Amino acid sequence: KSMLKSDLRDEQLIVASNREPSVHVRRAGKIVTMRPASGLVTAVEPILRACSGTWIAHGSGDADRDTVDSRDHILLPEHQPAYTLRRLWIDRIDEAGYYYGFANGGLWPLCHIAHVRPTFREADWECYRRVNEKFAAAVIAEARIKDPLILIQDYHLALAPRMIREKLPDATIISFWHIPWPNPESFGICPWREELLDGMLGSTIIGFHTRFHCKNFMETVDRYLETRIEQEHSTISFRGQPTLIESYPISIHWPSERERAAWPTIAKCRRDVRQRLGLDAQHLIALGLDRFDYTKGITERMQALRSLLEQQPQLVGRLSLVQIAAPTREELDEYQAFRVEIEQLAAQINARFARDGYRAIYLFTEHKGAEEVQELYRAADICLVTSIHDGMNLVCKEFIAARDDEDGVLILSQFAGASRELSEALHVNPYHIEETAQAMLRALNMPIAERRERMQSLRSTVREYNVYRWAGAMLGDAARLRLKDRVQARV
Ligand code: F6P
Repeated sequence: KSMLKSDLRDEQLIVASNREPSVHVRRAGKIVTMRPASGLVTAVEPILRACSGTWIAHGSGDADRDTVDSRDHILLPEHQPAYTLRRLWIDRIDEAGYYYGFANGGLWPLCHIAHVRPTFREADWECYRRVNEKFAAAVIAEARIKDPLILIQDYHLALAPRMIREKLPDATIISFWHIPWPNPESFGICPWREELLDGMLGSTIIGFHTRFHCKNFMETVDRYLETRIEQEHSTISFRGQPTLIESYPISIHWPSERERAAWPTIAKCRRDVRQRLGLDAQHLIALGLDRFDYTKGITERMQALRSLLEQQPQLVGRLSLVQIAAPTREELDEYQAFRVEIEQLAAQINARFARDGYRAIYLFTEHKGAEEVQELYRAADICLVTSIHDGMNLVCKEFIAARDDEDGVLILSQFAGASRELSEALHVNPYHIEETAQAMLRALNMPIAERRERMQSLRSTVREYNVYRWAGAMLGDAARLRLKDRVQARV
């Protein structure tokens, strides 16, 4: 963390993302601050706290306008300012087309190959382009020097790098794609595939979570654009400018000893969570914690629980799934339909095994604060991350960080980027319901010594490859490329 800080001492750092680190909303006449459920925010916020700089992001809360100065700036975190958040205002029409339409109705299902048909509309594309222009203009307006370090986050802003490059040719632009990149055939469905690729290739570096996504991206570029690709250097040259394509597995802030000292004990967390749910002290809890999204494998997880309870009736009355599903993108039909499907499935499973007040599934369709999430991680026997496709997934890393008792079993989808690093989790193919049910049984029967060993190993991986390593690797590559450019300019 401190190395990162000193490396960036003389740089101007500007980050742009759709999602903001802090949302202000009006509740009962008061303004309350909320932290959005977002892997991007979980990862990027500690970096800005450590390095400072300016973060440009959409202001989506109904009280956000009351918190900014005349330049739409606010200092964050509010109790101990470390960086500047510049809010960008997107009107309802653009939000509908850019965020709900093109980004989340088109690119999201396209890149996750989630068996939800992507929707591409000309009008959404126009909004997407317009909002990208807006972000690019905001970045350019914030630049005080000719070569700032600019971090563009995610699929909402694929066009912005080229737009920025045209005005700031010397800037170092790092784009990080937080979701999977599919194969060329799948990506080729998008009517604006060339424009998106061109936009992204305005970057100095394009980062993905895994090598596999880098390979898919390079093959996609090779299929649809006339470029020069140097496989051995993982570089694409387009319009006379090289772009490095590299994998940087994202991670979390590893809690310090001081932070851990403030946590309630595991025994207290176990007791309090069970008491709140009206469960006895021995009740087994499998935890699922996601945005309420069809890519997270919530259906498959519930089906696996049903299968397990059918095959192992002695677990009926003893094991429950506690599923937190934070509402997200609710204006989209697919998300509304998915919510109905999950609520019905949970009700059916609960009815099927109901006896003496037992509930197989506790479904909470609400956003939980950081403390409650932490308590749940520490109270659970198993954590289920069964995404049908996920760029990385940070819930599993947060679960690992929370378990300083070195206990608890992680069941992890082989289709989450995290599975490449977290080999000591129990890996499952979420489409294979029986396999997930068997993994749950194995987790419940796992001897304590094995649980410890697995958790110790997982903890050392996440502690080592924390979010500062993620940012450090990207910024280290950027520094190397900047130096190379300077040397070449002298020749
Ligand atoms: O990590 C992928 C991502 O889409 C982020 O871009 C985003 O912040 C997060 O998931 C949550 O989604 P949303 O911002 O749409 O609420």
